[in-house]
Amino acid sequence: MAAKDTVAATARPSLTFGATWKYAPAPEDSGQVRIEARYGLFVAGKFQPAKAGRTLPVVEPATEAVLAEVAHADAADVDRAVAAARRAQQRVWGPMPGAHRARYLYRIARLIQERARELAVLETRNGGKPIRESRDVDVPLAAQHFFHHAGWADKVHLAFPGAVGQPIGVIGQVIPWNFPLLMAAWKLAPALACGNTVVLKPAETTPLTALRLAEILQQADLPEGVVNIVCGDGGTGAALVRHPGIDKVAFTGSTEVGKEIQRTLAGTGKDLTLELGGKAAHVVFEDCAVDQAVEGVVRGIFFNQGHVCCAGSRLLVQESLHDLFVEKLLRRMERIRVGDPLDKNTDLGAIHSRAQLDKIRGLVESGVAEGCTLHQPAGALPAKGYWYPPTAFTGVGPAHRIAREEIFGPVLSILTFRTPEEAVEKANNTPYGLSAGVWTDKGARILWLAERLRAGVVWNNTFNRFDPAAPFGGYKESGFGREGGRQGLRAYLRFSGSFRQG
Ligand code: NAI
Ligand code: MG
Repeated sequence: MAAKDTVAATARPSLTFGATWKYAPAPEDSGQVRIEARYGLFVAGKFQPAKAGRTLPVVEPATEAVLAEVAHADAADVDRAVAAARRAQQRVWGPMPGAHRARYLYRIARLIQERARELAVLETRNGGKPIRESRDVDVPLAAQHFFHHAGWADKVHLAFPGAVGQPIGVIGQVIPWNFPLLMAAWKLAPALACGNTVVLKPAETTPLTALRLAEILQQADLPEGVVNIVCGDGGTGAALVRHPGIDKVAFTGSTEVGKEIQRTLAGTGKDLTLELGGKAAHVVFEDCAVDQAVEGVVRGIFFNQGHVCCAGSRLLVQESLHDLFVEKLLRRMERIRVGDPLDKNTDLGAIHSRAQLDKIRGLVESGVAEGCTLHQPAGALPAKGYWYPPTAFTGVGPAHRIAREEIFGPVLSILTFRTPEEAVEKANNTPYGLSAGVWTDKGARILWLAERLRAGVVWNNTFNRFDPAAPFGGYKESGFGREGGRQGLRAYLRFSGSFRQG
């Protein structure tokens, strides 16, 4: 490894969006965190450069500064990582009693808690998300996933009465950039609890917290090779997916790549779970608690700049409530603070990358061209970095691109409905099926809708709530398999006989 090299907080974006905002960073949010100049791959318990010496730059979205150079793994590096994972699975982790595996997972969970501030600052600098979200959502939830699965590690044989699952073996995991640490925790914790070992590939733009987690794994004395981290781009991911030494692939990312992985794995006998895109409907009835629903809709679409697979990106509001609801929503949007992700008062941070910003702009232009009405609060955005204002469209019809395609940005499309039947029909009119939200005062209506909405998660009078005990996953083009809860263990076990079909 290169010598430790602290990158001081680079010039912070100073312009603001929204009238009431002042830049006054608290000392703990000053952005000081240890960032090395170079990072290696984490293979067989050690950090090491890529065999071919290739590296990838890691950019801070809020400043466009290069934070670090990270080793870029190719097929030879993946091969080395898979071999290390195989050895560890056969010799150490597979045979280890569940109660012992649990101790490691508890230790990792505790270390994530102890190093929470460092992880949160790093996540915010690398990803662009507001520090309040990294601090209050991403990092605590990552710890919770390890705690939850530590509790399962010695009880996996009780999870599915009538059948005893065995570890699958070596798991290849490919994760995206929108929740880098949290997705690593979602993937690693259940795999390890069930006795598997892992080769994990973080997204090309967000390897820093996964590599910090690797330090935590060293600190926890996790036996070498149980977790290996190969950084790189789609080519690295493809090499991992294709590797014959992998027994199962778990992927979170775009539907396009998910389909490609399905084609690659067809006929290989490898297991697969996919968590892909979404276009969630947020269904708001006239009898709801309106102000709470406005808050829920804001949280549903603007959380993490809308870079959320389960974001409530289609608002279906009952026609009789439409005008009042839109008026309140637009007023609320004016108070959203866009700016420095390290400021704890920021609501909407930086768009993750130039590529994502271009995609958002393109889809917003299509909405305007198709005749929808654009709403954006007035204000200036910082000149440097990647930014997009909170945005809503009214007058959206089901055929418009902004009603059908995943934008993955802070852009809400507003449609209307008259009857509950029409709400269900419109909500389900999408190739996706990951999540949905319902706002109504009537319990019976909630149950009626929950049965009919084709979505893996249906939130009622809340949105974007996550719990490691609750299964998460999709229907249709949003993927298959569940993460979290008892159901999530199934994805990391093999059962004999017909049980797996159940
Ligand atoms: P992506 O699906 O290309 O990237 C996700 C992960 O897959 C990254 O680690 C990437 O390196 C890897 N990857 C890329 N090509 C691969 C291949 N052929 N084989 C194996 N791994 C591969 O997503 P991208 O390009 O970052 O974003 C494109 C769009 O996808 C976004 O605009 C958004 O709509 C959607 N997306 C959805 C996510 C979700 O959570 N469901 C997460 C990220 C993106
Ligand atoms: Mg891609």
